[in-house]
Amino acid sequence: MSSQVNRTSKNKGWKIVCINCGKEAKTELPDSKCKYCGDLLEVSISGKVGRKALFDGRGPGIWRFVAGLPFQSGTAPVSLGEGGTPLVRLENIRKGLRLDNLYAKNDGQNPTGSFKDRGMTVAVTRAKALGAKALICASTGNTAASLAAYGAKAGVKTVVVVPKSGVASGKLGQAFSYGARVFGVGGSFDDALRLVLDLVKSDDGFYLMNSLNPFRIEGQKVAAFEIYEQLGAVPDFVVLPVGNAGNISAIWKGFKELRANGITSSYPKMIGVQAEGAAPLAAAFASGRGLVPLKDPHTVASAIKIGNPVSWKKALRAIEESGGRALTVSDDEIMRAKGELSSQEGLLVEAASAAPFAALRKLKLSGNSKVICVATGNGLKDLADHRADMAIETVDNARSIIASLGHG
Ligand SMILES: Cc1ncc(COP(=O)(O)O)c(C=O)c1O
Ligand SMILES: [Zn+2]
Repeated sequence: MSSQVNRTSKNKGWKIVCINCGKEAKTELPDSKCKYCGDLLEVSISGKVGRKALFDGRGPGIWRFVAGLPFQSGTAPVSLGEGGTPLVRLENIRKGLRLDNLYAKNDGQNPTGSFKDRGMTVAVTRAKALGAKALICASTGNTAASLAAYGAKAGVKTVVVVPKSGVASGKLGQAFSYGARVFGVGGSFDDALRLVLDLVKSDDGFYLMNSLNPFRIEGQKVAAFEIYEQLGAVPDFVVLPVGNAGNISAIWKGFKELRANGITSSYPKMIGVQAEGAAPLAAAFASGRGLVPLKDPHTVASAIKIGNPVSWKKALRAIEESGGRALTVSDDEIMRAKGELSSQEGLLVEAASAAPFAALRKLKLSGNSKVICVATGNGLKDLADHRADMAIETVDNARSIIASLGHG
């Protein structure tokens, strides 16, 4: 069938392997799982990449780091200029937290407003090379927005499946604007992903773009390269929100590759933060007995309202190998941290992205630790939380502000 994706390809310098049985996947299955044992796959890059080759590259966004990616240099990427986001020192909130070196990696400044763009540029470039005709994902909103944009740029059809309710209207608006077909399911993200996996298995024309796709992870790992370069050191802690658990796995992979290539000599501790009502990974970390999926996840942070994270094994490995931990924060703590970030640092993030900042109070890190919180998504996508505060005043009141400040 001409609509099928050519899933068999010879690759130079890298292969796709199973994280469990270690066997190579010479042919990719539609659901991006191992043909032999059904576990997750990852890209394994052979040979060493030196500091100069990795950091002195050129190209748009994350493609500067093509030497560390599963592509030949000279690949024409489907790029919107993703990556290269600022590492911002949080001068104001760090004092209250007694942390001298607290930074936000502001991934909300990516082209569609979230870290998803890092992985999407890579996965869409790969999908295009394989001749995929339709790209599909399940999403809590940001993946849908990102896939839709990169699909538009590539000229490939996109299909996104989202929970019928609870997705931020800004994210949905993006998906529609970029031209995706948008489908809604009752239930949560987990139900949407189940449907998508059924669809890709029954129709070989679809190409799966969730973070089960190991090429998504390859793009997202570049955040580690950038953090190391911007900080001029390996941080002590990287703290980030965990939903489907792809990003924590990806950033850890990036730090592991830096060390395997002899560029660095230490690792950060990876700290995964979940909302109390949607915390299966934190529970698995605490119990040491593997993941028990949660049927009815709930939290205000809709991006991480996920009960059955597909990359939980990779994420637990990242946390355990690095000596980190997983913990939870309440919705109130998330919203308080979100307010502090915007009103004290000028950093407007969506609720999920405030979770790592909320966790700082609980982590009790030593004052001189180098701490990076990943601000995963832009708050402009989801302003519903602020409606109550948006009472516009009359102009007369403006004068009283100066009066109330006094003239010293
Ligand atoms: C803003 C934001 N933060 C965090 C996450 C969680 O990332 P992951 O699913 O890779 O754990 C998501 C996922 O949708 C997100 O949109
Ligand atoms: Zn396997």
